[in-house]
Amino acid sequence: MDHNMIQDLAEVLISEEAISHRIRELGAEISRDYLGKELVLAGVLRGASFFMADLARAISIPLIIDFISISSYGPATKASGVVGIRKDLDESIGDRDLLVVEDIVDTGLTLSYLLKIFRARQPSSLQICTLLDRKVRRIIDLPIAYRGFEIPEKFIVGYGLDYHQRYRNLPCIGVLKPEMMTG
Ligand code: IMP
Ligand code: MG
Repeated sequence: MDHNMIQDLAEVLISEEAISHRIRELGAEISRDYLGKELVLAGVLRGASFFMADLARAISIPLIIDFISISSYGPATKASGVVGIRKDLDESIGDRDLLVVEDIVDTGLTLSYLLKIFRARQPSSLQICTLLDRKVRRIIDLPIAYRGFEIPEKFIVGYGLDYHQRYRNLPCIGVLKPEMMTG
């Protein structure tokens, strides 16, 4: 018996090739912008882990990677509200150039909470790099320095994004068939 997750998709929104091509462009841009700086990539677990791994390898200058995990209300199919930090960064970021790496910015609540925390630690600079931007859902306006793709108001999975913790390992980004979304 074979269950290929691709069969669960109604539509592929962004192909594996398109993701990898766009990440190479972002990596080149970041490598130029951060030349001579103390770059720290801070990924937001768990969704940003795939993007982080590919983005870091698309950047040619030296950098440090770190991760933060936050707890939020309810599953991500609903609007999120951040409650607190589950796992903080291991690195100190004062006097370093922090680039926050996210899978998707939706309402902006998650990132605005994180930015507040990071800003208090006084990094030399603080910017956002998100693979996906669902601008139509934004509640809190955020300055996004690097964005992979702008996406429509559809719940998506793959390349780190989950539905009830599944589908993160799908290499492309797609929309689930309605019958797959039961929870
Ligand atoms: P925000 O706080 O509303 O900006 O939501 C950001 C977080 O919600 C992301 O880091 C994701 O973990 C999650 N999220 C938002 N939209 C989706 C989606 O379409 N699929 C899976 N996760 C999502
Ligand atoms: Mg996330």
